[in-house]
Amino acid sequence: MAFDIEMIKKVYANFGPRIEAARKVVGRPLTLSEKILYTHLWEQNTDKAFVRGADYVDFAPDRVAMQDATAQMALLQFMQAGRPKVAVPSTVHCDHLITAKDGAEFDLPAANTESKEVFDFLASVSNKYGIGFWKPGAGIIHQVVLENYAFPGGLMIGTDSHTVNAGGLGMIAIGVGGADACDVMAGLPWELKFPKLVGVKLTGKLSGWTAPKDVILKVAGILTVKGGTGAIIEYFGEGAENLSCTGKGTICNMGAEVGATTSTFGYDESMERYLRATNRADIADAANAIKEHLTGDPEVYANPEQYFDQLIEINLSELEPYLNGPFTPDLATPISKMKEVAAENGWPMKIDVGLIGSCTNSSYEDISRAVSVAKQVEEKGLVTAAQYCINPGSEQIRYTVERDGFLDTFKNIGAKIFTNACGPCIGMWDRVGSEKQEKNTIVHSFNRNFAKRADGNPNTFAFVGSPELVTAMAIAGDLGFNPLTDTLTNDKGEQVMLDAPSGFELPIRGFAVEDAGYQEPAADGSHVQVAVSPTSHRLQLLDPFAAWEGTNLTGLKLLIKAKGKCTTDHISMAGPWLKFRGHLDNISNNMLIGAVNNFNDKTDTVKNQLTGEYGPVPATARAYKAQGIGSVVVGDENYGEGSSREHAAMEPRHLGVRAVLVKSFARIHETNLKKQGMLALTFVNKEDYDKIHEDDVIDIVGLTSFTPEVPLTVVLNHADGSKDEIAVNHSYNAQQIEWFKAGGALNIIRRQVGA
Ligand code: F3S
Repeated sequence: MAFDIEMIKKVYANFGPRIEAARKVVGRPLTLSEKILYTHLWEQNTDKAFVRGADYVDFAPDRVAMQDATAQMALLQFMQAGRPKVAVPSTVHCDHLITAKDGAEFDLPAANTESKEVFDFLASVSNKYGIGFWKPGAGIIHQVVLENYAFPGGLMIGTDSHTVNAGGLGMIAIGVGGADACDVMAGLPWELKFPKLVGVKLTGKLSGWTAPKDVILKVAGILTVKGGTGAIIEYFGEGAENLSCTGKGTICNMGAEVGATTSTFGYDESMERYLRATNRADIADAANAIKEHLTGDPEVYANPEQYFDQLIEINLSELEPYLNGPFTPDLATPISKMKEVAAENGWPMKIDVGLIGSCTNSSYEDISRAVSVAKQVEEKGLVTAAQYCINPGSEQIRYTVERDGFLDTFKNIGAKIFTNACGPCIGMWDRVGSEKQEKNTIVHSFNRNFAKRADGNPNTFAFVGSPELVTAMAIAGDLGFNPLTDTLTNDKGEQVMLDAPSGFELPIRGFAVEDAGYQEPAADGSHVQVAVSPTSHRLQLLDPFAAWEGTNLTGLKLLIKAKGKCTTDHISMAGPWLKFRGHLDNISNNMLIGAVNNFNDKTDTVKNQLTGEYGPVPATARAYKAQGIGSVVVGDENYGEGSSREHAAMEPRHLGVRAVLVKSFARIHETNLKKQGMLALTFVNKEDYDKIHEDDVIDIVGLTSFTPEVPLTVVLNHADGSKDEIAVNHSYNAQQIEWFKAGGALNIIRRQVGA
């Protein structure tokens, strides 16, 4: 069910010759990140050395992974491509749509009822198109990927920002939007700006209370939440080899919290041990055979300052445990300073809840070290002061730690065992009393701690730490407690200290699981029917968008002239709209409702040129569409910044917007518009933005000779009968012009496969 060793062997067979060729082209030794990227170029035999942080490059990923919230639109789009099967191995994981409340035995059946139609849809699409499907309760995407699919030297994309977790097993694994996942599954190349490289040299060895989590908490403090943007963080050094594979996964996971494109480690014995423990000895053997290619060249690590854009050094032997927070994961406080810092800042000292698990910290090592702390409650006559909860990362982990008696120890301290799912980490936590919005403190071993993230309460102060530290803090119930130096009072009134945690990197008796929760796709899915009810509010099958009519576009109405910042959140809001992610028509009712109308400074209030009345943006667009009239959106600088969410491009396309004309675009959104067959245009003279009037009827001229690097003309027909003709730029290459003509990139693939 898990991996395809033949596919991996094929990938590895390319490594030697391709790395040799890349070394010649680049003219110097290579980092691990460069080796993986150059071996996965879409077009091999390039004689170009790519400029980090500048060149856009097409890659061929080995895998795609999707979680249930983002998979819906990715798969709805993929279905339009008309392919009988996905072009690369892909999996779907049901982990986000499960609320944590009373514990797994109650919460999982409730989720299976509430989101049944979404899960059924994902299961049937997966079955039909050759996609591995992990049912609700099977586990969290990144833990399941690490256990089953990640492999050293591989390149994968996933529709979740913590896809980067697979760097723990030596991959380049990158979080993307659903449109990118769809393209790769449909057989298209995947484009990425060649990343910069941050090197982190690790020396020494962890001991005592310090855990792998503290490495990334320290790095987050150094780099801050933006410091890794556009870069791959590559860890190396003897300290790296001293870390477990799953510990490396934790470090890579939270690379997302410093904005890094991804993080990775070179192949070493810890990875080999993990591969063998997770029934993948043949991958370990294959990796061993090419191991010099699965790490950076020795010259790189000997003189890292010559090869990385930035270098950080951390001595693990001197590293202290950290708690990062509140409200941001880069506010790093060593545990020895927390009492003082918390008092200075007025953070609530009483800890109400400690939570461990999530995709970040669910390994056997994590749980066994946390249990070594938890069991001291009974041994030392203590009482756990705070509530304690666990969301295991996978059924395999849950089953194994139950077999080994760890769950019983946790239950003895009153722990609630939630479903193997995201739960509180993504705000799917029905926490009693959170609606009162009281000030309170929680500690957890997850990755993000933004306001409202866990329980929706803006006054919950969340701190991130290792599972073993979180356990100690939950026992003490006091944010100022430092287990390295402080005592607790036991039932005899004695002062006792907690012993430093100890654990097992891997289970001595091996991993075990009865039902991992995996559905193998049908060998021939042609007979499988995909179940979507036409009356569903949450899911809607997509129809292909219409092809270009072959003429200039004339008589378009101005829909909105957006003023100032217009991010993908302004274009397609999240929050309550998340539940419509699989229903294009319903989610389109949020189109541009956050954008400010330049003519009245109001949001979601634009003039309907047909009636002269003001109304919501989506309703106005629908009114034009109903009359067969196209519309135009005008925007300011960096239009569409934010997430890579494809809904922000699909909604306007669905509601009849033909062109988006702005001062400048955020690049990913610009590409998304092109993929959906829209015109993404920029003013040649930015002052022309001021020439757009509220009642303008707009013509776009020059489309019959649409050519790369040749500007188009926009004619603004003003209500008073006057006209302005303005030049507009576009960045379409020849292929993208074909997307426009076909009505969208997927229509081209449909044609190619003859659907
Ligand atoms: Fe889920 Fe939280 Fe990880 S939402 S995928 S457990 S970051």
